[in-house]
Amino acid sequence: MDSKKLLILGANSDMAKAIANEFKAEGFELMLAVREPKNESELAFDAVDFASHEAFVKNMKVIPDVVVTAFGVLIEGDESFNSPQESLQSTLVNYSGVVSILGRLSKAMAERGSGTIIGISSVAGERGRGSNYVYGSAKAGVTAYLDGLRNYLADKGVHVMTVKPGYVDTKMKAHKPTPKLITVSPEQVAKAIFRGYKSQKNTIYVLWMWRWIMLIIRNIPEFIFKKMSL
Ligand SMILES: NC(=O)c1ccc[n+]([C@@H]2O[C@H](COP(=O)([O-])OP(=O)(O)OC[C@H]3O[C@@H](n4cnc5c(N)ncnc54)[C@H](OP(=O)(O)O)[C@@H]3O)[C@@H](O)[C@H]2O)c1
Repeated sequence: MDSKKLLILGANSDMAKAIANEFKAEGFELMLAVREPKNESELAFDAVDFASHEAFVKNMKVIPDVVVTAFGVLIEGDESFNSPQESLQSTLVNYSGVVSILGRLSKAMAERGSGTIIGISSVAGERGRGSNYVYGSAKAGVTAYLDGLRNYLADKGVHVMTVKPGYVDTKMKAHKPTPKLITVSPEQVAKAIFRGYKSQKNTIYVLWMWRWIMLIIRNIPEFIFKKMSL
């Protein structure tokens, strides 16, 4: 029997590399999509080159069984405030890029009648915070998009899983140390994603604690929240 195919979009991300290793060890064949392919086996993919997305999917030799969106850029609150243009650009990567490429892939998978889409969103999308309000707003959009897409595809044989990793020790977070207790490695994320994929979870938090942390954060009254500079 042919091995299952996993497409990772943004395959140079630290999380993506760990996900690739995890799925490969489980027998998957990898299709790695990056901005600048280094060899013929890698696919060229730029999340903001929207005009190329239709052809990207049409030119695939085979529609993958599983797709993971792992690309993204972090933009902090001060950067967003000081550079509206950079803010806009980040939303094109983090939100519009996801909608554009998954729009094409989900259609192809639904036409085939099978597949799993795994979207990496973030707990940052659960409540707008000053420290990353533009990034968080894009991830809120991604979470709602993935939830809605899961609902839309429910009777078409395609499953959608939303991943909220919490803090992960990757180059995206290298500039700002995060509390050790609630920070995981890319390998932990990869294992949680594989487990979630196998049991067809709808949404996963990598550490159980994040579910509770975000429940508390979502319920802090706004008049207190404003003073917390989170
Ligand atoms: N790290 C965390 O704490 C954390 C927490 C929650 C969610 N996330 C999310 O998890 C995902 C992976 O994050 P990470 O921490 O592994 O990030 P990372 O190591 O910083 O990698 C980000 C990747 O995004 C790619 N990328 C950026 N712009 C792109 C574009 N226009 N088109 C295609 N690819 C593009 C980069 O490609 P190049 O290699 O070409 O630059 C890079 O490989 C992201 O969606 C991120 O928002 C991260």
